Amino acid sequence: MIFIPTDHLKAGMVLAMDIDIGIGKLPLLTKEQVLTPGFIQRIRDLNIAGVYIESKQFEDVAFKETISRKLKQEALTNIKKIFENFSRKTLVSDASLKTISNLASSLVENILSNNEVVVNLSDLKGHDDYTYSHSLSVAILSIMIGNRLGFGRRLLTDLAAAALLHDLGKMKIDVRILNKQDKLTDEEFEALKEHPDIACDHLRKSKIFSMSVLEGVGSHHERYDGSGYPKALVADGIPLFGRILAVADVYDAITSNRSYRKAWFANEAIEYMMANAEIHFDFDILKAFLKSVAVYPVGTFVTLSNGQTALIIKNQPGNTLRPVIRIVGEDGSCTEDIDLMSDFNYISITITGRCCDSHFFDLGTGSSEPEGN
Ligand SMILES: [Fe+2]
Repeated sequence: MIFIPTDHLKAGMVLAMDIDIGIGKLPLLTKEQVLTPGFIQRIRDLNIAGVYIESKQFEDVAFKETISRKLKQEALTNIKKIFENFSRKTLVSDASLKTISNLASSLVENILSNNEVVVNLSDLKGHDDYTYSHSLSVAILSIMIGNRLGFGRRLLTDLAAAALLHDLGKMKIDVRILNKQDKLTDEEFEALKEHPDIACDHLRKSKIFSMSVLEGVGSHHERYDGSGYPKALVADGIPLFGRILAVADVYDAITSNRSYRKAWFANEAIEYMMANAEIHFDFDILKAFLKSVAVYPVGTFVTLSNGQTALIIKNQPGNTLRPVIRIVGEDGSCTEDIDLMSDFNYISITITGRCCDSHFFDLGTGSSEPEGN
């Protein structure tokens, strides 16, 4: 399979994965669906950045989901139920919070047992229910970062629980503020800034979660240079969980499709975050994060510093800028797979960005029809 940016989709291409659009909803389109101009327009209307397409030529290239589909569905259903409960009632029951605790533990086990040490979250991006899929994505990213930092199972489970609950307080904020696309007024921003404390105050009462969980939830909007909220904490004065959640939270927010803007690609988001190292984010945590997230996911076409085009075949644990690649010629001919971590001939060659040449997106997809209306 290969990843095709939405702008380059053509009628006749065949989907290699379902396109999910929300919890409990049928997928927008399912695997093996042949794309028509109408379907392509629908994908564009939903601001989906790109989709996986079947490719005869690259049928050996496979994308592996980060967590099992069953666990993903179970997680999203539970998060949605608990968050919606909190928006309606003053308290969430201890039983519901224990469900979150169990879910955190299942996520840690699922991720640790998965040999895929590099996360690619594009499979999690439903268009609707942003808050719930965002909570799950932030949990997965946080577990990956914590694992890189050497956390044991117990600490990872606490971190995952903090991530799942980090935005619980938003359920008590006016939806007009949450969904406002224009700049918030000072008054609206002051109201939004209360959401970490709202969640913390509630979770403290339940006594189910440890102090680290509460601190993480309470400090996920603090920024390394002291420009965050609610306490304007600085550098190591920000609890460790809060510094981890800040990285996972911002990365997932900017790489998610929203109704008002298209998602950023992983490499664009990572560049932005690196530019904010020690301004917004703890550099050591960013480094751990970079070792865990695919800068260029499997199936992506990239351009190399020597002008060649290549397809990402496999991402490597520890160095996501040096994946296994396959050089693809203008005529579609391919080299053997090249491991950028160890191939001496490519030691000075770097990946410079995503490939923009539409010719490569047609390779091996079997798409020959021109795109109509
Ligand atoms: Fe938040």
